[in-house]
Amino acid sequence: MPYQEKRKLGRGVAMVGAGMSKFGVRNGLSNRELFVEAFEDMKASVDKGIDTKDIEALWVGNCGTEIWESQLVVAVLCAQWIGMTGKPATKVEAACASGSAAVRQGIMGIASGMYDVVLAGGVEKMTTLPTNDTTTALASGTDISYEASGGFTFPGLYAAMANAYMNEYGTKIEDFRKVGIKNHDNGALNPNAHFSASITDIMGKQIAKCKERGQSVPNWADELEFLDDPVFNPVIAWPMRLYDCSPVTDGAACVLLVAEEIAKDFTDNPIYIIGSGQACDEALHGRDTLISVPAAKIAAQQAYEMAGVGPQDVKMAEVHDCFTVAEVMAVADLGFFRPGEEAARAAGEGKTARDGIKPINTSGGLKSKGHPVGASGAAQLVEIFRQMRGEAGGRQVPNRDIDLALTHNVGAHGTTAVVQIYERR
Ligand code: COA
Repeated sequence: MPYQEKRKLGRGVAMVGAGMSKFGVRNGLSNRELFVEAFEDMKASVDKGIDTKDIEALWVGNCGTEIWESQLVVAVLCAQWIGMTGKPATKVEAACASGSAAVRQGIMGIASGMYDVVLAGGVEKMTTLPTNDTTTALASGTDISYEASGGFTFPGLYAAMANAYMNEYGTKIEDFRKVGIKNHDNGALNPNAHFSASITDIMGKQIAKCKERGQSVPNWADELEFLDDPVFNPVIAWPMRLYDCSPVTDGAACVLLVAEEIAKDFTDNPIYIIGSGQACDEALHGRDTLISVPAAKIAAQQAYEMAGVGPQDVKMAEVHDCFTVAEVMAVADLGFFRPGEEAARAAGEGKTARDGIKPINTSGGLKSKGHPVGASGAAQLVEIFRQMRGEAGGRQVPNRDIDLALTHNVGAHGTTAVVQIYERR
């Protein structure tokens, strides 16, 4: 198949704006209102300004407005509310990878030459239903005939992967927990995060609550002892406890993509998208491995080849940590660390901290920033845009020129993966 050997963009694509809504429980706000919030934030980030009428097309990643809001046509409604009625507006669904799949559509729209200026992003309003119903709704992203109908939920599926990982490599539960501690540390510095609080902050809040209620005050020695406490960190699906799980979140994010040759009309500091890969896979019950996400490996290989770079060149990455085990698998699937002990210990050893050799999830990741499933992939680009331009405030990666970065977004339990690579010149 010689025509499929090496994929490339038909022309260069640049990101010149990026924005997100506040993530969290956003009572009283609908999908479209969250998207407007992200759009306004994006507009404010375009250094030389953008007139909405110059945006030619819109793609919106969204997993389930039909379930959470009984509303289809979310892309059309978002277009209406941001002033793009009359332009093409398309919803893209790829479970939890919907946001980056939508961005990839935008990239292809520019690279094909069809458009010069497009908007792509994602939105999800998840907190309209109680957690049980949301868990059932999310489980429709499994192969329901063989997985959900047998009792599997997403925490259950990732717990199966965590158990398999521990069984294969002797990984300790503490290794997963240290991923959560790191990502909460980062999220504490992100004002848009669902949980802008470190685990230490949360321990302090819990102690204060106990005092207020006249209950006995716990005396944890450190974060790990707190995370070991079944009262404050209950098991969701063994070995994944509350602080191993991403939360149920409302939020939106979007990016403005333009043809490379006009990028400087919008900013002197564009971020170029130089690699993009996407793959799909069977559901978990059909795979021969539980300890990696094969689609992510394929997508990464495609993105690295297109960009002409390797894992060693990537200065930082936002990866899909819907559960802490997912980050451990991601950093191995992307080739940053060897699968097993090296990948599992990377967070605990500080290698993936903001000042580590490979900063991962400086935004707080899905764990702490939150996981509005259709928006999460797009929000990863927002963090990359800010970090690469030195605009990430208190969580800016220190003493490092971030000239090459990567995003890794997984749909469901690995049935889709999208990997993208970014360059600042
Ligand atoms: N991490 C940390 N804290 C969390 C949390 C999480 N994932 N989820 C909820 N909390 C906190 C809440 O803020 C709240 O704190 P407060 O009492 O100080 O206000 C407390 O825990 C209880 O919140 P509640 O919403 O009642 O929790 P819950 O038990 O209904 O839900 C989970 C907890 C883990 C079941 C839920 O967050 C979940 O299902 N997460 C996974 C989502 C998922 O599968 N996404 C798709 C991935 S592929």
